[in-house]
Amino acid sequence: MSNQDRFDELRRRHAEALRPSSEERVRRQHKAGKKTARERLELLLDAGSFMEVDKFVVHQSHDFDMAEQRFPGDGVVTGAGRIHDRPVFVFAQDFTVFGGSLSETHARKICKIMDLAMKTGAPIIGLNDSGGARIQEGVVALAGYAEVFLRNTLASGVVPQISAIMGPCAGGAVYSPALTDFIFMVKNTSYMFVTGPDVIRAVTHETVSADDLGGATTHSTTSGVAHFSADSEEECLALIREMMTFLPQNNLEDPPRRPTKDPVDRRDENLQTIVPDQPNKPYNMLDIIRTVLDDHYFFEVQAGFAANLIIGLGRLGGRPVGIVANQPMHLAGCLDISASLKGARFVRFCDCFNIPLVTFEDVPGFLPGTTQEFGGIIKHGAKLLYAYCEATVPKLTVITRKAYGGAYCVMSSKHIRGDANFAYPTAEIAVMGPEGAVNILYRREMEQAPVPEAFKEQKAREYREMLATPYVAAERGYIDEVIEPRDTRARLCAALELLRTKRDTNPAKKHGNLPL
Ligand code: HXC
Repeated sequence: MSNQDRFDELRRRHAEALRPSSEERVRRQHKAGKKTARERLELLLDAGSFMEVDKFVVHQSHDFDMAEQRFPGDGVVTGAGRIHDRPVFVFAQDFTVFGGSLSETHARKICKIMDLAMKTGAPIIGLNDSGGARIQEGVVALAGYAEVFLRNTLASGVVPQISAIMGPCAGGAVYSPALTDFIFMVKNTSYMFVTGPDVIRAVTHETVSADDLGGATTHSTTSGVAHFSADSEEECLALIREMMTFLPQNNLEDPPRRPTKDPVDRRDENLQTIVPDQPNKPYNMLDIIRTVLDDHYFFEVQAGFAANLIIGLGRLGGRPVGIVANQPMHLAGCLDISASLKGARFVRFCDCFNIPLVTFEDVPGFLPGTTQEFGGIIKHGAKLLYAYCEATVPKLTVITRKAYGGAYCVMSSKHIRGDANFAYPTAEIAVMGPEGAVNILYRREMEQAPVPEAFKEQKAREYREMLATPYVAAERGYIDEVIEPRDTRARLCAALELLRTKRDTNPAKKHGNLPL
C-alpha cells in the first residue's frame, strides 16, 4: 500500500465518520424540531474552532448482533472548541445513533474530555439527547454512567459545568446534568424524569404526559431543576454562550472583565422613587437591579422559579457579579423553601468561581405556614444561611426596605462576613415589623380590654420611628453607611474595586456538613 493509499484511507474514514448514520434518522430528528449533534456544536462554538477527538471510536459489544452495527463515534461527538475565544470541552450526544444511548465506549469518550477539562482547567458543556443506558450492554453501560457521575462530582467547584437537555434524558441519566452547575432546556423537545409516564401510570395510576412531567416549562417553573427554558435550540445554545461571558475558566481564575462605557459613578435619580412611601406597597426589585448594573444589563437565572427571590449575573465596572435579591412583588419578598434552595445553590456557585455577591434586601421574614414547616423550611432556610456564611468572595449588601428577623441575619448581614453593607434611608431593620411587634408588646393590654385601632396605630408609629429604621444598625456599625438610592451604583462599584484583593478563608476541614 502506498502512502497515498494510506492518506486516502484516512480521508475515507474521516468522511465516513462525518456522514450521518442514516439520512432517514437525520430527517426524523429535524422533523421532531431537533438538530443533529454536529449542527448543535456549530451553533455553540466559535466558527471553525471545534477539534474533535475519538471520531473513529466504535462500541465493543457483540451481543444482540451489535458487531454488525458499528457507527464511528458511537453516538456522541466529543472534543474541544472555543466560546468567545476561550477554550471549552464539549460532548454532544447523537440521537441518530442508537438513540444517543450511552455505551461503555460512549461513556469513555465523555470521561476522556472531562479528564482533559480538569487537567487544563476549562469548562465542560454537555449537550444531552439520549435514550439512556445502551440496553444491549447492560451493566457495562450503567458502569459508564457511574464513571461520568464521579467526574461530574470531582469537577464540581473546579471547572464550570453546563448541561443542555435537547431531547430525552431519563432514569439515572438525569443525575449527570443534576450534578452540573446549570441546566438549560428546550421547550417542547426536551424532557427529564427519573421515572417516565408509563411507570407512573402503572405504579400510582396517575396519567401525565412526558412534557407535563418533565418538560422545560415544568422544570423551570415547578421543580426548579432547570435554570433556563429556551424556545428553540438556537436560543438555548446562544444562552449558554452568553452565560460563559460571566464565568472564569476554573476556580483559580477571576471571571473575565468586559470593559464598559457606563460610568462607575453614574448617579440615577430614578432610584430615589422606586421604593414607595408606603411600607407595604410592592415594587419591582428588578428595576433597582437593572438601573444599578453596567448598561442596565441583567442576565437573570431561574426567572420562572421561586420568583420571590431573584438571582442572576451582571457587571459592575466591567466585573461580573452575582445578584441575589428579594422580590417584594412576590410573596412580599418572603423567603420560603424554594427561594432558599434557589439562593443557596447560586451563592455557592458564585463562591466556587470567585464571582462577588451583591445582595439587594427587602425581606419581611420567612414565609409562615404548615406547608413550609412540614416541608422543612428550617433545614432549607439553613442552606441559604450556610451558603452566605461560608462564602469568602466579596459580599456587598444593600438593604432597600425590610430586613426583619432571621432573614436579616441570612441575607449577607455584617455578622456573617458581609464586607460592604449599605442601607437606604427607607430601610427597616428590626426583629419584626411594627404591627407584629405591637401585637406582642401590648398583648396584655389588648387581652384585658378592647383597645381602639388608633392606639395600635400610634404604638406602631412609635415603634417604626424608634426601631424600624437603618440608624439603630448604623449606630452599631452593622451598616457601614446609609446611602441615598441614587448613589447605589457608585457606592457598589467603589466597594467592589476596594475588595478586589480580598482574601478570606474558612477553617481547614475535609468538607463542611451543609444541612441537606
Ligand atoms: C439502545 C436505544 C435506546 C437505548 C433508544 N434506542 N433508546 N437503543 N438503548 N436505551 C434506539 C431505539 O431502539 C431506536 O433504534 C432509536 O434509538 C430511536 O429510538 P425511538 O424509540 O425510535 O425514538 P423515539 O420514539 O423518539 O423514543 C425515544 C425514547 C425511546 C423515548 C428515548 O427510544 C425509549 O423509551 N428508549 C428506552 C429508554 C430507556 O428505558 N432507557 C433506559 C433508561 S434507564 P432504531 O434502530 O429502531 O431506530 C437508564 C439507566 C441509567 O438509562 C442509570 C444510570 C445510573
